[in-house]
Amino acid sequence: MNRTRHKPEAPTGRPIAPAAPVAVPDVRPGQSVELLKELHILTRDGKLNQDSRRKLKQVYHLYNFIEPLLEEVMAARGDLTLADHGAGKSYLGFILYDLFLKSRQGGHIYGIETREELVARSRELAGRLGFGRMSFLNLSVEESIRSAELPERIDIVTALHACNTATDDAIRFALEKHARFIVLVPCCQAEVAATLRKHKNESFGRTPLSELWRHPIHTREFGSQITNVLRCLLLESHGYQLTVTELVGWEHSMKNELIIARATGQRRGNARERLESILAELNLQDLRERFIY
Ligand SMILES: C[S@@+](CC[C@H](N)C(=O)[O-])C[C@H]1O[C@@H](n2cnc3c(N)ncnc32)[C@H](O)[C@@H]1O
Repeated sequence: MNRTRHKPEAPTGRPIAPAAPVAVPDVRPGQSVELLKELHILTRDGKLNQDSRRKLKQVYHLYNFIEPLLEEVMAARGDLTLADHGAGKSYLGFILYDLFLKSRQGGHIYGIETREELVARSRELAGRLGFGRMSFLNLSVEESIRSAELPERIDIVTALHACNTATDDAIRFALEKHARFIVLVPCCQAEVAATLRKHKNESFGRTPLSELWRHPIHTREFGSQITNVLRCLLLESHGYQLTVTELVGWEHSMKNELIIARATGQRRGNARERLESILAELNLQDLRERFIY
């Protein structure tokens, strides 16, 4: 008699990994070992090395920021929708699903990504893991704002290192959907720095503040910082209360600013006025439509 255990097959025809627990203290009970292997946190034979342990801690660290938001939405309406913009390999969505949604009845995660092969890969992995309440859409963030493939209501919007202005599009998406929470870890944004550069000579004659972006490296760094300042003011002008902090220990150490916005409906009184003044002072009026609406 053949005693080899037959592994059940997913629709893709690939075997589903057994849900057997592994003797790795950092892996939480019930967590998908197959997923951790796909994310290269566990090796193929289920081992965790020092680098992987660090990576897993970072993932938990980010999860710890987001979990209370998921809890709050679930408690409020017994369901939740989350859109992750610039999802890449969708590891954030997969981790949130595995650690939070998997054991619950409701909730749906949407991954928005322009790279078709990453979307296909995520669909295949979700199918294999049986993560049925995940959808992956091959759309730009901008397209997703009007897409009928997404529901009217999105409770939580995340954008983790979404390239350049994709973070700004994610903010616009979140505002259109009246998201309750917005979680951003912005990537570099070249647009503001390019505008500072374009008007540099003119700015020299106008304001001593132009010293802040005179040298090219400062143009880039100041451009990046002021971008996030403008994003914060935009969110505050729409009635969000912010927590702006550092995603400590994050692997992309250069881009580890974390912005968490909570809808309160209380617009900060002078946010719009401050936006107008900063754009005027820094000679950034070309970007008015991006940050004031
Ligand atoms: C740096 S990766 C980050 C991926 C993932 N969020 C993470 O942190 O691992 C940025 C991803 O955003 C995608 N992307 C860039 N611009 C986009 C846009 N406008 N709409 C949708 N996806 C975009 C890229 O294809 C890439 O996969």
